[in-house]
This record gives sequence, structure tokens and C-alpha cells, in this order.
Amino acid sequence: MSASSDDAQFMQEAIRLGLLHLGQTSTNPSVGCVVVRDGRIVGRGTTAVGGRPHAEPQALAEAGELARGATAYVTLEPCSHHGKTPPCADALIASGVSRVVISVTDPDERVSGRGISMLRDAGITVETRLLEEEGRHSLAAYLTRQTKNRPYVILKLAISQDGMIGRMGEGQIAITGPAARAEVQQLRAETDAILVGIGTAVADDPELTVRIPGLEGRSPVRVVLDPLLELPLTSKLVRTARQVPVIVVGREEVSEAWEQDLPPSVLPDISPTRGEIDSRQASVQNVEGGTSGRPQPISPLVGEMPGRAEGGISIADASNNQLESRRQALESAGVEVVYCHPYHPEQLLPALASRGISSLLVEGGAKTARLFLEAGYVDRILLYQGPGTIGQGGIETPIRKTDIPSDFKHVGTRRVGDDSLDEYEREV
Ligand SMILES: NC(=O)c1ccc[n+]([C@@H]2O[C@H](COP(=O)([O-])OP(=O)(O)OC[C@H]3O[C@@H](n4cnc5c(N)ncnc54)[C@H](OP(=O)(O)O)[C@@H]3O)[C@@H](O)[C@H]2O)c1
Repeated sequence: MSASSDDAQFMQEAIRLGLLHLGQTSTNPSVGCVVVRDGRIVGRGTTAVGGRPHAEPQALAEAGELARGATAYVTLEPCSHHGKTPPCADALIASGVSRVVISVTDPDERVSGRGISMLRDAGITVETRLLEEEGRHSLAAYLTRQTKNRPYVILKLAISQDGMIGRMGEGQIAITGPAARAEVQQLRAETDAILVGIGTAVADDPELTVRIPGLEGRSPVRVVLDPLLELPLTSKLVRTARQVPVIVVGREEVSEAWEQDLPPSVLPDISPTRGEIDSRQASVQNVEGGTSGRPQPISPLVGEMPGRAEGGISIADASNNQLESRRQALESAGVEVVYCHPYHPEQLLPALASRGISSLLVEGGAKTARLFLEAGYVDRILLYQGPGTIGQGGIETPIRKTDIPSDFKHVGTRRVGDDSLDEYEREV
């Protein structure tokens, strides 16, 4: 085997390691590293769950003295700045490695090129861009957030033979089989957040969690676009909000009357959730007037404003009082309510990125998928095609294999149980 194919094989292993903690290292990228001595891997590392320690010190620790004179393969340029951990470039220099091979240079301006310069200044041979395309693919979420100030967006849809994604008024319909559903669960586990529109949240009453045995703790944050705060309090999303976070994105206009004197939002560029104000006022009252600082019980006003499931409300009918009481009720149930423009992804996505969400799985429904597609914010499309038809009353898919935007590459088609999956990607 030639030296370069050896290099490719070791970088492949580093990329495989990096993928292991995808979706669990926010806001750090999930990086992989192997240390190779005399053609044998003597140290392996993956960015730890939570983002620290980084991959390189772990691989070097495993290699110990064998790192001296060895080659380190890293999927991303080693960091050069003192963050919460010392620079990985320093750790590599101290270990005595003689060569470092890097797949992707870091677009983070605190690092870009500096990690490489530090290593070269210390006399280490540095080679870059090995398996760069695969490396960029493995770091797509991190690179997208760094360079585009938004999460990497994956759109997944299950489509029937006759091009439908559901049936009007029927809620969840099994379009794909257990194998495809298991794949989607795995995808959720690798993603920072998952997003649906209020239409789907009401029609399907989904839980949007990871239920693969052993991976239950890897459920992503769940985001619902819900301008009028119609998410039913009895929905599975609300009932599980204390176990797995739920963010409801309400519409900016409904909150304008409450805009004054509010603290900075938890999501920059998003009006603050009133929960912050309420809990602050509640604790002041607690000191001065003995009111409990715990979340308030659901206000009786809530019953006066029907949720979408009970017939819905229009923006014209929704008084601020009604919306305020619905907001309070959702927050009392553990849901975080934020105000943004739910149907303006160009505002919502940077706000999600600013709180460390690097990857977002959009799971529908039709209007929500169309919104992200038309705005040009989808990076990867997964179309699962089931064998059955839906027929009359069907909700048409917002995208078919025949109308994929031209800047997407068809990655491939494969069987998943009785279904097929077509995957498309844009360059990161
Ligand atoms: N097969 C799949 O992969 C899949 C996945 C998820 C959901 N689904 C199915 O999709 C159906 C729900 O789809 P949906 O399109 O009704 O709802 P949705 O996309 O989940 O929610 C969108 C809701 O927001 C409102 N909206 C208004 N303006 C919008 C805009 N610019 N962008 C996005 N939403 C806007 C719509 O209200 P108005 O109705 O008032 O316009 C709509 O009810 C359900 O039957 C569900 O089973 C299928």
C-alpha cells in the first residue's frame, strides 16, 4: 500500500470517529483524531459529548510516549486559542509528533491558519486538505454555522407512491415502514434541533424524540412554528417539555404591546420570552408580598381561547390578553416561548444558531417544508418513498424527485426496508 493510500485510510478512520458524537458536542464541532506510529494506530479521539475535551488531547493521551515521532490525523485544523481548554496545537507540539495531517482548515477566525502556523513554527510537517470533501461533509453543521451564521438544515419527508405526505384531517399516517422510521430516529439523535409547523404539531401530535434504546438521552430540542401560540397544552410536545426542551416560536406582531422594558432575549434578535419578566416579577413579589416564584398555574383565561385543535383563532380575534394567557400556560408547562417571525427563516435561523444550534432537522409539514425550500435554506433533502398510495384527500408533497433545485447533487438512492430513500445535498 502506498503512503498516500495509508494516509487516506487513517483520515477515513479519523472522520469515522468524528461522526460518532454528531449532534452531541454543541457548540463545538465533533472532530476525530488518530495518532499513527509505524503504520499502526496508537491513539484515537473524538470530541467528547458536551464539546470537551477535544479529540486531539484524548488521542495523544492514549498514544502516550508512542506519540513521539508519530503522525496525527485530524479532521479539523487544531485550535490555536485559549478557550475553555488549552490550544490543541500546543498539545500536539508537546507530544512530540513529527507530522500532522488535516482534512479541513477551520473557518473560525480565532483559529484559521493559526493552528497550522503554530505547528509549522514548531518544526512539525503539516499537510492539509486530505479527503477534504468527506471531512467537510462530516463537519457540515459546524462549518455552516461558522460561515453562514445559521444551522445546517436537513429536510426530511415521507412520500407515498402518488406523491402525498398525509391526508387532510387524519393526522399521522404510516407512509414508510419501521426501517425508515428507525433511520429517522438515528438522524434525530445526530441533530441539535428538530422543527415542525403548528399544522403538523396539531394534526399529528408528534413527540419528536429519540426512542432508540440507549439513545433516549439524545433527543434534540424541539421547535414549533406557532404564530398564535396554538400548541395544545394536552399535546405530547407540551406534556414532555420538562424532559426534552420545546421552543414555541410566536409571531412578533402579537407581542408588540409587551415590548417595553424587557430584558435581552435568550435568542438574540428575538423578543424576550415573557417568562423571564414574569419570573423576575414573581420573585420580587415573593420578597415583598409573599407570592410564590414557581411557575403560575394555568390561568382560567386559557379556556376562553381555543387552540387550533378546537377551531383555532385568527390574528384579528386574538387579543393580547388571550395570547398572554396562552403564553403563560405554555411556559407553566415548561415550554419556552420566543418571539420572532416564524415564517421568516432568514431571521429565525441566525437566532437559533446564536444559541448554539448548528443542525436543524425540518420534519414538515407541507407548508413549513415549502417555506424553507423557497427561502433557499435547505442544505440536504431526504425523500423517503413508501410503497402505498394515499389517494383522495391527500396533502401533496412540496417537493418531488423531479423538481429538486439544480444546485443539489443527487447523492444516491437506496432501499430502506420496503421503502426507498433519495438523498440530495448542496455544497457546504
Ligand atoms: N409525510 C411527512 O413526511 C410529513 C411530515 C410532517 C407532516 N406531515 C403532514 O403534513 C400535514 C400538515 O402540513 P401543513 O402544511 O398543514 O402544516 P405545517 O407545515 O406543519 O404547519 C404550517 C401551518 O402554519 C401556517 N402558515 C401560514 N403561513 C405559513 C408559511 N408561510 N409557512 C409555513 N406555514 C404557514 C399554516 O396555517 P394555515 O393553514 O392557516 O395557512 C399551516 O397550518 C399533516 O397532515 C401531517 O400529517 C407529513
